[in-house]
Amino acid sequence: MADLFLDIAERDAASAIDAIKRRVSVRTYADHPIEEDKKQRIAAALDSPHQGPFGNRVRFDLLDLSESEKTEIKTFGTYGFISGARMYIVSAVRCGHGAMEDVGYCFEKVILAATTLGLGTCWLGGTFKRANFARRIGVSEDEVVPAVSPLGHARNKRSAREKAIRRLARSDTRKPWEELFFDGSIGVPLSKDAAGKYATPLECVRLGPSASNNQPWRVIREEECRAFHFCLKRTWGYDRAFKSIDLQRIDMGIAMCHFELAARETGITGAWELKTPHPQFGDAEYVASWTER
Ligand SMILES: Cc1cc2nc3c(=O)[nH]c(=O)nc-3n(C[C@H](O)[C@H](O)[C@H](O)COP(=O)(O)O)c2cc1C
Repeated sequence: MADLFLDIAERDAASAIDAIKRRVSVRTYADHPIEEDKKQRIAAALDSPHQGPFGNRVRFDLLDLSESEKTEIKTFGTYGFISGARMYIVSAVRCGHGAMEDVGYCFEKVILAATTLGLGTCWLGGTFKRANFARRIGVSEDEVVPAVSPLGHARNKRSAREKAIRRLARSDTRKPWEELFFDGSIGVPLSKDAAGKYATPLECVRLGPSASNNQPWRVIREEECRAFHFCLKRTWGYDRAFKSIDLQRIDMGIAMCHFELAARETGITGAWELKTPHPQFGDAEYVASWTER
């Protein structure tokens, strides 16, 4: 199975950790188009099949609106939130167990690869017209479009609207370590020092994007079996906001992507598995575990 990040970024020997640190949502795009070779590299990588850790196939399409009229672009519902973008990456997946996590995991690899190519992106899970994007990429009856992202060069200055959106979502802040990472059980914080070689993969989880910047991921280390359990601490109402689309499970897939890429880059080998019975961590929903191999 192809690796979306490597497919796009390997030629430049790009660092995923560096991309994770540099990535930021871009909502204001410059006029100049994406260079043809970059467009080709992204299109070629998106074309091959992609599978997340839960085994779901995620499909991507590159939508080019450069020839479209302003009135048509407005029908995609991103107008007002995103300005100036002419290209969009659109995801599609069949509903099933772990489908949302797999979209988060696969799509974030694309986002990070685009970052290494100097291109701007912005996860959109809510502020777009799902049905219109779905129609344009021809989704089948059992597929959904969980998220899309504009793709292009960032304009030098953010629009006033973009600044307001960032302020509203408190996009420039992240929760501290002690609220996110735990040792053995929730409530026992895992310090950076105690995390040792896992400090960087965990920091990369912390820096990740999430819907409304809610940062729902919680990670619990189980030292004796060198496992990290990934759990979801729900923000009230977020599981029902968009019918079959669970934005916070997409957030979890993004966290898994960051952790895995950073672990790989720092020389740690391991794999994702589903522990049964699921370990219980209060009201946080169990998602998956990373085990060192
Ligand atoms: C799953 C997901 C869905 C999102 N949906 C939207 C959206 O609909 N509209 C929007 O403007 N931003 C959306 N965002 C972007 C977040 O607001 C942004 O990632 C967060 O505020 C952190 O800012 P940063 O990406 O610049 O680090 C989404 C992010 C994620 C991960």
